[in-house]
Amino acid sequence: MELSGDRYENMTYRRAGTSGLLLPPIILGLWHHFGGKADHDNCREMARTAFDAGVTHFDLANNYGPPPGSAEERFGRILREDLGPHRDELIISTKAGYRMWPGPYGEWGSKKYLVASLDQSLKRMGLDYVDIFYSHRPDPNTPLEETLGALDQIVRQGKALYAGVSSYRGAFFVRAMETANRHGLAPVTLHQPSYNMLDRWIEWDLLDHVEQYGVGVVVFSPLAQGILTDKYLDPNNPIPRDSRAAEETPFPRKERITDDLVRRVRQLADLARARGQTTAQMALAWTLRDPRVTSAIIGARNPDQIRNCLAALDNLAFTDQELKAIDTICPPAGPA
Ligand SMILES: NC(=O)c1ccc[n+]([C@@H]2O[C@H](COP(=O)([O-])OP(=O)(O)OC[C@H]3O[C@@H](n4cnc5c(N)ncnc54)[C@H](OP(=O)(O)O)[C@@H]3O)[C@@H](O)[C@H]2O)c1
Repeated sequence: MELSGDRYENMTYRRAGTSGLLLPPIILGLWHHFGGKADHDNCREMARTAFDAGVTHFDLANNYGPPPGSAEERFGRILREDLGPHRDELIISTKAGYRMWPGPYGEWGSKKYLVASLDQSLKRMGLDYVDIFYSHRPDPNTPLEETLGALDQIVRQGKALYAGVSSYRGAFFVRAMETANRHGLAPVTLHQPSYNMLDRWIEWDLLDHVEQYGVGVVVFSPLAQGILTDKYLDPNNPIPRDSRAAEETPFPRKERITDDLVRRVRQLADLARARGQTTAQMALAWTLRDPRVTSAIIGARNPDQIRNCLAALDNLAFTDQELKAIDTICPPAGPA
């Protein structure tokens, strides 16, 4: 299988905050459907479909699978088989924060855990360095100096080029930025929060802060784990077998897909149709409407879903009327 030579012709890259890093507006995440039991040819085809279309960025974490670590192993194989010769055209990220191995050093934000976990990730992927290494979640019990000091060491050693944080709420993020500045630590270049029409916390809690510190934002679960698509709208088949809600460890959980939610997604689907888009395409375009959001990280189960998501980039503009209609269906909640 040849890779396409014209992959940069139709992609417009977006700058991550005030950094030098340009990212594709849509990134492929490997949280689901790249684990140990996944069909390798399909995984390979998904990675190639994305890269062929100019998606230079692949997002991983130590624990993606199942089993934990297997998505990184699979991506290592894809690098060996296909993408490896293009290493300098790729942005590969990984993270550590959630439980990865037993005992007190297998999760959260200690230096002991972060440094060891990245070394393991590099081995699994067969890499000398990743482009971005994230603290995967805030750790209320480890001093920020230690977590950010570990990221600083990792960047200075060249094991990651950029440091990032994920799911840090606004006040904690500001403390992190002030800590990094005060101690002269490697800058935090990226924040990776959740964001979609059903989960709008970053609008009131985070976006002003990232702008102030010049940090890029790559949002995860822009399709609400598949809810903001046409997947769960068939009353005769509310939880299709080929859906994540039907999986053994479901994200999204079945109970989340209530009648009220389905009613709202139907209204969104009508709006999307009027824009000439699928529900997924409109959901993605919507996350990218604010220039402070650099990119959206999607998950996918097959190459067609990736192609469908990428076509969202053909229409990123919203009228005021459309935005108001979305606000009515999915109100932008403020602080509790
Ligand atoms: N930092 C963090 O803590 C964190 C947390 C979560 C995720 N992430 C990152 O963000 C990535 C994306 O998260 P996510 O998988 O929850 O994102 P998502 O994009 O909200 O959901 C992906 C799911 O949507 C469905 N889908 C995708 N494209 C579709 C299309 N065109 N039409 C219909 N359905 C479509 C698929 O569901 P089915 O599989 O059911 O078909 C797919 O698995 C992850 O892979 C990971 O890299 C990071």
